[in-house]
Amino acid sequence: MLDRLETTLRIRGGARLEGSVATHGAKNAALPIMAAALLAKGTVTLHRVPRITDVSVMWSLLEALGARMRYEGDNTLTIDASNVASYRAPYALVRKLAASFDVVGPLLGRFGRAEVPLPGGCVLGTRATDLHEQAFVALGCEVHNAHGYLIAESREGRLRGATIEFRMPSVGATKNAMLAAVLADGTTTLKNVAMEPEVVDLANFLVAMGAKILGTGTDTIVIEGVDELQGVEYEIIADRIVTGTLLFAGAVTRGDVTVRRCNPQHLQAVVDKLAECGATTMTGDDWIRVKADGITGGTDILTAPYPGFPTDLQPQVVGFLCTCPGTSVVEESIFNARFSYVNELARMGADVRVTMESNAAIVKGPKQLSGAPVEAPDIRAGAGLVVAGLAAAGETEIIGLEYIDRGYERLEELLSELGGQVQRSSGVTPLVEPAGFFETSEYPRISA
Ligand code: UD1
Repeated sequence: MLDRLETTLRIRGGARLEGSVATHGAKNAALPIMAAALLAKGTVTLHRVPRITDVSVMWSLLEALGARMRYEGDNTLTIDASNVASYRAPYALVRKLAASFDVVGPLLGRFGRAEVPLPGGCVLGTRATDLHEQAFVALGCEVHNAHGYLIAESREGRLRGATIEFRMPSVGATKNAMLAAVLADGTTTLKNVAMEPEVVDLANFLVAMGAKILGTGTDTIVIEGVDELQGVEYEIIADRIVTGTLLFAGAVTRGDVTVRRCNPQHLQAVVDKLAECGATTMTGDDWIRVKADGITGGTDILTAPYPGFPTDLQPQVVGFLCTCPGTSVVEESIFNARFSYVNELARMGADVRVTMESNAAIVKGPKQLSGAPVEAPDIRAGAGLVVAGLAAAGETEIIGLEYIDRGYERLEELLSELGGQVQRSSGVTPLVEPAGFFETSEYPRISA
């Protein structure tokens, strides 16, 4: 078993990023789709699964429940859940990954019972579950909390279809309600649901397995329950957050970067904001190019559910805006504690003030950032510090690369391909690729 690694990323700032790079598969689609494999009668084969540590935690969780997992190549994963016999998820794994809560829906669909630790809070803020619970209750489950676990059970065994209207669109609750309803008896109508591309990808995967789902990508989803779902082969969509991170990395260095194998429609809000700052943007079927030699100013941002500006790109855009002329206001509407990294940016010379009343960051630029040792508090904040480090004079050392590895598959290699001077600290084996990984096709376990 591997110990938790404290690796660092060293960036020598100032290099102009140039060229093209391909993005990888989406973390936030891969994780619920892996959980959904619990519903399949046969083997599920998933392509374009990113080699990131969040995937390895979901791997360990499914394995702990009894699934057989195999890597069939770099990014192809097979899951055989036919022997799964447990509906209780271990706390040691769930505590590492809020997305572990995605297994509640499939366990309910399969067993009519689920026992999963409550996510509680996380570094970004509170992780409420009332909307998830609303859905499970409407689908015929009794739900209660005991000893830190959410316990949901349908006395009839099979869940029954229902109409559920959410008070706000939640990505997590929409996924869990869909996952619970696909094998329910009768029709389920979900109103005011999340429209994120990852929710659509999950629905497309379920449909490929034999589920009947209409309306995904709109605010109302209708599901006709079926008796069983089959194994299937499926390719995960491109990661729009990795794509956006690479675009801001290009823009902060005033570079000329093309990101390939992505879906530009999923990043319209990002492309629009880059253009507002004076960057030239171009898109094709599966690529986006940003040319940032003519940045004229900053912009105001409000993070919002899709198709709004994604909260998962908020730290990266702040890193970029530090270098843009004028004052930019970045308001966070999804999480209540997502600005902790700003203190680290300030240590690099950024002029950013957070107003608690409005949960916003006021960014004044342009600032010549200076390289410094900084610490990444979470995945996307780490990526924001990387963006800032690319523009900083001198060396930035980011402690907490293990957070970045949760969501980015070898970010340093993607940036190096574009001419960035970025290195993983030497002598440390990255958690995503332990010795013998390719020989054994066994994915790394994370120690509890
Ligand atoms: C959220 C983000 C998602 C991002 C992910 C990881 C949105 C809308 N969601 O998804 O883009 O990839 O974090 O950073 O951008 N809520 C409740 N009760 C619930 C569930 C949620 O009040 O039962 C609230 C949350 O506190 C939050 C909002 O709804 O303010 C959105 O939460 P949700 O979309 O469920 O969060 P995630 O699925 O984690």
